[in-house]
Amino acid sequence: MWRAATLPLMRKAYHLTTFGCQMNEHDSERMKGMLEALGYSEATERGDADLILFNTCSIRERADERFIAHLHEANALKRRAPGTLIGVGGCWAQSVKEEVFQRFPFVDVAFGPGQVHKLAEFLTSDSLTAQGYFEFEGFTGDLPVKRTRDFQGWLQISVGCNCVCSYCIVPSTRGREVSRDPEVLLAEVRRLAADGVRELTLLGQNVNSYGRDLPADRRISFAQLLEQVDAVPGIERIRYTSPHPKDMREDVIRAHAVLPALCEHIHLPLQSGSSAILKRMRRTYTRERYLDRVALIREHVPDCAITTDIIVGFPGETEDDFQQTLELAELVGYDGAFTFIYSPRRGTEAAQLKEQIPHEVKVARLEALVQVIQRRAAERAQRFVGRTLEVLVEGPSRTDPSRLRGRSRHNKVVNFEGFGEVGELVEVQITAATSQTLTGEMSLVSRAPR
Ligand code: SAH
Ligand code: SF4
Ligand code: F3S
Repeated sequence: MWRAATLPLMRKAYHLTTFGCQMNEHDSERMKGMLEALGYSEATERGDADLILFNTCSIRERADERFIAHLHEANALKRRAPGTLIGVGGCWAQSVKEEVFQRFPFVDVAFGPGQVHKLAEFLTSDSLTAQGYFEFEGFTGDLPVKRTRDFQGWLQISVGCNCVCSYCIVPSTRGREVSRDPEVLLAEVRRLAADGVRELTLLGQNVNSYGRDLPADRRISFAQLLEQVDAVPGIERIRYTSPHPKDMREDVIRAHAVLPALCEHIHLPLQSGSSAILKRMRRTYTRERYLDRVALIREHVPDCAITTDIIVGFPGETEDDFQQTLELAELVGYDGAFTFIYSPRRGTEAAQLKEQIPHEVKVARLEALVQVIQRRAAERAQRFVGRTLEVLVEGPSRTDPSRLRGRSRHNKVVNFEGFGEVGELVEVQITAATSQTLTGEMSLVSRAPR
């Protein structure tokens, strides 16, 4: 376990902006926990901070652009208050490494996702020179934590990715896959449950390859890990992201049918519905294998929500390839999907491919895909109307603060009339459904805790 070595005498304030995926949200909670153990407190405004931090993402070009605009804003603040420190962590930092100091000389410290703990070393040292830390070592999950929501927690089960998806920057920013020891994980789950966490999300780049790198006497499979987490009292809901279709085995799918806490939702990234494109993406499964996984899910857990990630405009994607993606989306009937325009990433194989698709074609394909996804999601959501669903209350509704907002086990946002504390499980009768949200009224039948 990491411990703060020294506590500065003066209380200083930090401000942290997080970009990217849930793993980054997790890492940011750890960064905050570590900083608070060092005696820092969180500033609500960036302008009030002595330490301005960014936890960055580099998954698509747009992510880079958004972050760089923020970085310039931090520099403007630093010019007004010259003692301010600026730190850049995460995947973008890892992808550019020391170059960050040439391009942005006002940055004081930079670190990749594998060296968040070095930020503490930098802050407690007397060094006045800029420092960069880009090794892959240890887990952010071993650092202290400051959780954003009392009732929700992340569990980092592994870091890194051994896949070689030709479009993806993550293997180079997060390194090789390393699983955390199951006993360490279970101890963490028990701690989180004792601390009030009711919903736990297991995180990894490819969660269902969990454990393969562990020594034989410590090794358990992902399905076994799910079973052990499910047995921890107090954990009412378990989610995970993301599984890889190539490693999605029947034992994990069956677990959704038998483990009471494991939610009826599987996020199964498709990327493309064309086997030819999947091959060039190096996804190592075909359209048929993917559909076979979906059939297996529907067989064991008929009501399971299935969501996905899809990329349009991968180099060489023909109209026919794209039609196959549309057809597959139609066939599966996703409950929701994240859809992306292919973005060439530095150092990736696909960025070198000829036949890059013109931007207008990508945009048109995205629009066509979004239409199918939304129509099918709206159709699928109608199955909830008239049913009473268990909803975990998250707070007031974003559109109408007199109503509450929560999430069903299927991961649908539910806006409803009623009462309930944040973090409480309530029963809501669903009266209407769109592609994105469900609407309902709280049912007064109470539910005994498990
Ligand atoms: N490890 C996870 C998440 C990867 S990043 C997984 O494999 O599912 C999340 C999503 O971003 C991916 O599923 C993919 O759809 C998208 N993505 C990754 N690289 C991309 C790129 N270069 N251009 C567009 N979308 C990309
Ligand atoms: Fe990227 Fe593929 Fe690994 Fe996901 S599985 S992080 S898409 S390389
Ligand atoms: Fe972005 Fe890194 Fe996550 S590139 S999507 S923050 S793994």
